[in-house]
Amino acid sequence: MEQAASAPATAPVRVRLRPTMQSDIEFVLSLERDPDNLPFITPWERTQHEAAIRFPDFRHFIVEAGPDLEAAGFVILIGCRSQNQSLELKRMVVRSKGKGTGRAALRVVKKVSFDDLGAHRLWLDVKKRNERARALYAGEGFVVEGELRESVRVAGGFESMVVMSMLQAEFTQRRSQAMELRA
Ligand SMILES: CC(C)(COP(=O)(O)OP(=O)(O)OC[C@H]1O[C@@H](n2cnc3c(N)ncnc32)[C@H](O)[C@@H]1OP(=O)(O)O)[C@@H](O)C(=O)NCCC(=O)NCCS
Repeated sequence: MEQAASAPATAPVRVRLRPTMQSDIEFVLSLERDPDNLPFITPWERTQHEAAIRFPDFRHFIVEAGPDLEAAGFVILIGCRSQNQSLELKRMVVRSKGKGTGRAALRVVKKVSFDDLGAHRLWLDVKKRNERARALYAGEGFVVEGELRESVRVAGGFESMVVMSMLQAEFTQRRSQAMELRA
């Protein structure tokens, strides 16, 4: 499944999602282990990624960006076969931060989730102290549902998670206001 998109002027990054292949796993693992990313995610074992690229309930994508569509990050969606049509954006990591790649990728994720995978609800949890990601999700229309207080054990204590979501009706409303990629 591939989608191509050019985000609006605020984020003029060309982004495409393509299915992750076995040969991409090393790239994915290296991004997860990058000290810039480790504070914000719980890295998976290689075998977990290998399973995720095969398991029908999961979608594991490489984010390709820029004029040459180079590998720029990855995205994992879970619950693609959920009878509740509730998909989880399990993880999104981009290599080069603060250049609009994350926003452009998130717009494609929403389009894929609602248009192609039939999501009724797209949700995620994000560390409370991950202000960059929270600002991105909020700016892209995700609504805060609540907080899982001190739910994640980390070195030296516990961290809280914020649960955020977007409903299909909200996506449709945003699209009618040209805030989402066209169908
Ligand atoms: C979170 C992440 C995916 C965002 O992607 P990105 O390409 O860096 O973000 P963008 O450049 O598209 O910025 C999107 C918005 O995030 C916010 N943002 C960006 N950098 C920020 C910072 N340093 N502090 C606070 N907010 C920030 C802004 O609202 C920005 O929008 P704006 O530039 O229009 O104001 C990326 O930074 C990343 O991979 N982080 C590490 C892993 C992670 O935290 N993943 C998410 C949790 S699973």
